[in-house]
Amino acid sequence: MNAPDLEIYLDDRDLERSLRDDVRTGLTARAKWLPPKWFYDARGSALFEEITRLPEYYPTRTERAVLQAHAPEIARITGAKTLVELGSGSSEKTRLLLDALSRHGSLGAFIPLDVSAAALGEAVSMLTAEYPGLAVHGIVGDFTRHLHRLPGGGTRLVAFLGGTIGNLLPAERHDFLVGLRAALEPGEWLLLGTDLVKDERVLVPAYDDAAGVTAEFNRNVLRVVNRELGAEFDPDAFDHVALWDPTNEWIEMRLEAREAMRVPIAELDLVVEFDAGEQVRTEVSAKFRREGLERELGAARFALRRWWTDPDNLFAVSLSQVR
Ligand code: SAH
Ligand code: TRP
Repeated sequence: MNAPDLEIYLDDRDLERSLRDDVRTGLTARAKWLPPKWFYDARGSALFEEITRLPEYYPTRTERAVLQAHAPEIARITGAKTLVELGSGSSEKTRLLLDALSRHGSLGAFIPLDVSAAALGEAVSMLTAEYPGLAVHGIVGDFTRHLHRLPGGGTRLVAFLGGTIGNLLPAERHDFLVGLRAALEPGEWLLLGTDLVKDERVLVPAYDDAAGVTAEFNRNVLRVVNRELGAEFDPDAFDHVALWDPTNEWIEMRLEAREAMRVPIAELDLVVEFDAGEQVRTEVSAKFRREGLERELGAARFALRRWWTDPDNLFAVSLSQVR
């Protein structure tokens, strides 16, 4: 197979530098935290793919069904010439959009963007082989930093699927939407997948599955810090915690130290101390309601044009247009 067509906005040095900054800031804070983008090394991306197939993890299969039902309409409404995908991962569900847009006859290029070079390279190689008429151009980048560098060309449709927008905190989400708006032209499109507020008894198991895959995924961030920064975390000394926060309407993922410990991080010249039971916040996954999301989109000058959900109202796919 030919080498995948990849453009690198984030090389290993940038990644290493931002990982150092994030780990130092997060683990020296009074309430410790680590940012979620560091979950996704090759092993982390593979574990996430496993999560998407778990019985408790309804978002992926629900979003796929909604896309399947409405992809032809999305193609018809947008007539997109370029499909951009942010946080694309394996781009598995995206094939539904690629197929519909190809059939519609408008599509010329697909531009997936992800921080994970491993996941992106694999997806670009596969899609290049499977869609011979399509220009597939991957971007290794951070969707909170590199949106102004997205190539233009024809009418663009930006897909941001999987509920990943919910992994940004509200202020980060606003900045992200404003930045995306600035990178687009009036009339261009945003297709957003958002998980919806629902009963805690459905939400929590999706982030704390019986087989323990999500727990392993959560602990993987410690393995990344061990490997990249010479830290000495024992991942098995941390319990996975998933909590529903009804005020913020988000799931919060944490790692809880089973016992008191001191963890050296060689490359930061730092020793991090944990009390028994102390928690590190590793991720939030916000859940949405239509009115709130429409308001957030509007604040960034996106107009909501369509809102599609499944019969049980678990997950929404919305189509918005730049005003
Ligand atoms: N879109 C896929 C994958 C979702 S998992 C799906 O719906 O199944 C989230 C993806 O976003 C991962 O592939 C991860 O590497 C990527 N990601 C996380 N933070 C990112 C960031 N700041 N910039 C770019 N990609 C990011
Ligand atoms: N975007 C996914 C979500 O919020 C990411 C995700 C699923 C995740 N399960 C996780 C992130 C567990 C960290 C830990 O649903």
